[in-house]
Amino acid sequence: MILIQFFFFFFGISGLGGLSTAKYLADAGHKPILLEARDVLGGKVAAWKDDDGDWYETGLHIFFGAYPNMQNLFGELGINDRLQWKEHSMIFAMPNKPGEFSRFDFPEALPAPLNGILAILKNNEMLTWPEKVKFAIGLLPAMLGGQSYVEAQDGLSVKDWMRKQGVPDRVTDEVFIAMSKALNFINPDELSMQCILIALNRFLQEKHGSKMAFLDGNPPERLCMPIVEHIESKGGQVRLNSRIKKIELNEDGSVKCFILNNGSTIKGDAFVFATPVDIFKLLLPEEWKEIPYFQKLEKLVGVPVINVHIWFDRKLKNTSDNLLFSRSPLLSVYADMSVTCKEYYNPNQSMLELVFAPAEEWINRSDSEIIDATMKELAKLFPDEISADQSKAKILKYHIVKTPRSVYKTVPGCEPCRPLQRSPIEGFYLAGDYTKQKYLASMEGAVLSGKLCAQAIVQDYELLLGRSQKKLAEASVV
Ligand SMILES: Cc1cc2nc3c(=O)[nH]c(=O)nc-3n(C[C@H](O)[C@H](O)[C@H](O)COP(=O)(O)OP(=O)(O)OC[C@H]3O[C@@H](n4cnc5c(N)ncnc54)[C@H](O)[C@@H]3O)c2cc1C
Ligand SMILES: *[C@@H]1O[C@H](CO)[C@@H](O)[C@H](O)[C@H]1NC(C)=O
Ligand SMILES: *[C@@H]1O[C@H](CO)[C@@H](O)[C@H](O)[C@H]1NC(C)=O
Ligand SMILES: *[C@@H]1O[C@H](CO)[C@@H](O)[C@H](O)[C@H]1NC(C)=O
Ligand SMILES: *[C@@H]1O[C@H](CO)[C@@H](O)[C@H](O)[C@H]1NC(C)=O
Repeated sequence: MILIQFFFFFFGISGLGGLSTAKYLADAGHKPILLEARDVLGGKVAAWKDDDGDWYETGLHIFFGAYPNMQNLFGELGINDRLQWKEHSMIFAMPNKPGEFSRFDFPEALPAPLNGILAILKNNEMLTWPEKVKFAIGLLPAMLGGQSYVEAQDGLSVKDWMRKQGVPDRVTDEVFIAMSKALNFINPDELSMQCILIALNRFLQEKHGSKMAFLDGNPPERLCMPIVEHIESKGGQVRLNSRIKKIELNEDGSVKCFILNNGSTIKGDAFVFATPVDIFKLLLPEEWKEIPYFQKLEKLVGVPVINVHIWFDRKLKNTSDNLLFSRSPLLSVYADMSVTCKEYYNPNQSMLELVFAPAEEWINRSDSEIIDATMKELAKLFPDEISADQSKAKILKYHIVKTPRSVYKTVPGCEPCRPLQRSPIEGFYLAGDYTKQKYLASMEGAVLSGKLCAQAIVQDYELLLGRSQKKLAEASVV
């Protein structure tokens, strides 16, 4: 066992997938070293403080009741009180009744999925009765079938699946445009039905599955730092500004070392890569490109998304202490963070954080064009309080964060391309939301991928130890 001191793990990350891998490895008695390219923790949950001390984020992030691994993580870190749970309802803006909202309220007294079905049946503003019935019948196989049924629906887009099940197009337009944009930042004609079914299964089959929580402040400090402190308390390390630029191989095709941007090399006995899939593909060694496990990653491509923050000169009255589905062409979900998030609380001025999607056609446009388009849509959501020319609420300032390649775009046919955490290369592992796990490309998925990755390494421990000892022996013979 004394050899454990030679036994380090190295990663290319510190997004949630990498942080989770390192956390669970540290819990298993190992001493991981995390390498993060940027000067900020969190990857897709990263955030920055501006000169006024206000935070702006890579994305508006919502935690769900149906996130068991994330909730365990909060519990293990002793930070449960940082999740601010909201009333159990989903609130949709009404495009044809500007300023009004329609709610799906989940009755607390009923078990799942009855509370979910009742929430749908009780809503009279968005769907007619015949539509609700067809919707419910169409979804029945999804509610009854398990994970295997769900994964088998990967071949169809949401729009095609709904048509096949006889669900009227209007239901797709009324409900699933908003859901598709919220889940994967694209429209139902592109999104794989599997994605919707996974969400519905998790959200509707657990009583509090679709209940939502906001973090009480900026994610790097409020969520990532406690994970880092935990890793360090167990002897692990986290290094920022350490971008991996090359994966160098041994003659047998296994990893020899990582080469960093500053030229230094990092050696180890096991290596985990937990970057976004697009970056891993760029750094994939030539010698591995023909291996099907890596070849299949070609199909996984990050989707563009934009996160907009606007600070207004006044408090907007027509918001809510919850997430709102805008149901407008360019915007997805949004929230008044001056109400929903403790650290951003302000009684006098609203800060709207909005996800701008689909963003394909906007990702290369200027910030001012994006703000103009956002204001035009906000004028429809807040007719009493906002107009596009700012004659009502005025913009004090804004921040825009563009992510040209965010989570992988969940088009039909992706599921078989998602890699297991254990690669065919001995001692090399992948983690991150795109790797195989039963949640979506989400914070929960990233955390679970890390847990699975750590489990695989722990299982392989004897094997990896044997390899290290052999190499040491060879080295001392030479
Ligand atoms: C706008 C937006 C809104 C979202 N909303 C939600 C939500 O409401 N709920 C939810 O559950 N999920 C949401 N997500 C998804 C969630 O953020 C991601 O699924 C999750 O954070 C991904 O974690 P990851 O570790 O897999 O990848 P990442 O967070 O991308 O981490 C990868 C890390 O690798 C680092 N890296 C890259 N290249 C290198 C290199 N060469 N060397 C070293 N390090 C490198 C990166 O800097 C990064 O820190 C949202 C995402 C976005 C963009
Ligand atoms: C906006 O809020 C105000 C004050 O609460 C209310 O009087 C008004 O009816 C709301 N507007 C809409 C369109 O809901
Ligand atoms: C390069 O970066 C690594 C990781 O952050 C650090 O440990 C090392 O000291 C750096 N090397 C040089 C030469 O700056
Ligand atoms: C809000 O306005 C009140 C009254 O003008 C002021 O006393 C208070 O300090 C303000 N609060 C913040 C957080 O700006
Ligand atoms: C945006 O610009 C980059 C760099 O010029 C280019 O590679 C990319 O294809 C553009 N994306 C879109 C969607 O136009």
